[in-house]
Amino acid sequence: MNDLFLRVCHGESVPRPPVWMMRQAGRYLPEYRELRRQNDFLTLCKTPELATEVTLQPIRRLGVDAAILFADILLPLEAMGAELKFVKGDGPCFPNPVRRREDIARLRVPDVDETLGYVFEALRLVRRELDGKVPVIGFAGTPWTLASYLVEGGTSKQFAHLLSWSYADPEGLAELLDRIADVSIAYLQGQIAAGAQALQIFDTWGGLLDEERWTRIALPPLKRILDSIGNQVPRIFYLRGGAHLLPAMARLPVEVLSVDWRQPLDQVRAIVGPGKALQGNLDPGTLLGPREEIRRRVENLVRLGRGGGHIVNLGHGILPMTPVENARTFIETAQAQELASS
Ligand code: CP3
Repeated sequence: MNDLFLRVCHGESVPRPPVWMMRQAGRYLPEYRELRRQNDFLTLCKTPELATEVTLQPIRRLGVDAAILFADILLPLEAMGAELKFVKGDGPCFPNPVRRREDIARLRVPDVDETLGYVFEALRLVRRELDGKVPVIGFAGTPWTLASYLVEGGTSKQFAHLLSWSYADPEGLAELLDRIADVSIAYLQGQIAAGAQALQIFDTWGGLLDEERWTRIALPPLKRILDSIGNQVPRIFYLRGGAHLLPAMARLPVEVLSVDWRQPLDQVRAIVGPGKALQGNLDPGTLLGPREEIRRRVENLVRLGRGGGHIVNLGHGILPMTPVENARTFIETAQAQELASS
C-alpha cells in the first residue's frame, strides 16, 4: 500500500512527498468528458458504479498518491430538501434560495443513509476496487461555504444576500449554519464508516470574511463538526483566499492545512508554526504553462515545504483546460523529489 499521504497527515517523515490534485477527477480528463457526454453531473454523483469509475480515472492515468471520492459539496443541501440543479455553463443553481429565518423551516433534517447512501456506497466500492493501492479521501463543505450557495442560489460574485443576512440577522444565519453542521456531522461519520481514510473540509468562500467575522460566524459550526469527528481519520482543512486567516486556521483541530497559492509555503509555515502538515499550493494556472516552468516551480515548492510535513497539491482545483500531459509533469516531478537527505 502506498501510504505516503497518510504518513504525512500523521506527522511522519517520508522519502518523497505525496501528491494529488484537487478536482483530479474532472473535465481535463478525456475519459471523464466521455462519461459526461452520456450522463449529467448529478447522475454521475448518484450512481455509485459511475462515481467509482470517475474516482479511479486519475489514479489509473496519473498515478496520484491519493484518491478523492467523486461527489460534490452541495449534495447534503439537496438531501436537506433544497432543489439543486447543475446548469451547463452556469454551475450549481438552487432555484429556491434560503434567504431569511422563515425559509429555514423549508429544510428538513435528513436521514443521511436514505438521502446520501449513494455516496457511502461509492466509497465502499472505491475502497474495494483500490484494494489498498492508495488511500481514499472523503469530504464536505463548511457550513459557511455551503450557505453561500444556498443563500445566493448558486455561484456569486458579490454575495449580497449572504452578506446582508450576516449583518441584519446574524442569529438567523447562525441557525442555518447550525442545521447544515448537524447534517455534515452525520454525513462525515457515514463517510468514515464507509471507508474514507481522511476527510477534507472545503471552505472555498471563508476568505470573504475578516478574521473577527470568520471567527464569530463561520468558526463555531465548523469547530463543532471538527470536534465531533475527532481524530478517527486525518482532517484536512482547505480555505481559499485566506492568508489573513492563517493564524486562526493554525488553531483549528485538524491535522493538515490546505492553502491556496497566494502566499509562498515557507511564509505559511512561519505563520502556522509546527504541528500540522501543509497541503498545496501550486497556482493551478501553472499547469497551463510550459512543462519546464512546471518542473521548476514544483521543485521550488517541494524545497519550500521541506521539513514540516508537506502534501504536494494545487492551491485550488485543476482548471478544465489543463493539458493532461502537464498534469502528468506536475505529478511526476513531485514524485521524483527526494526528501531523505534534507
Ligand atoms: O476530483 C475531486 O476533487 C472530487 C470531486 C469534487 C467535485 N467538486 C466535482 C465537481 C469535489 C471535492 C468538489 C468540491 C466542490 N464543489 C467545491 C469546493 C472546492 C472548490 O472547488 O472550491 C465547490 C465550491 C463545489 C461546488 C461546485 N461544483 C461548483 C461551483 C461547480 C461548478 C463550477 C465548476 O468547477 O464546474 C461544481 C461542479 C463540479 N463539481 C464539477 C466537478 C467535476 C464539474 C461538473 C461537470 O462535469 O460539468
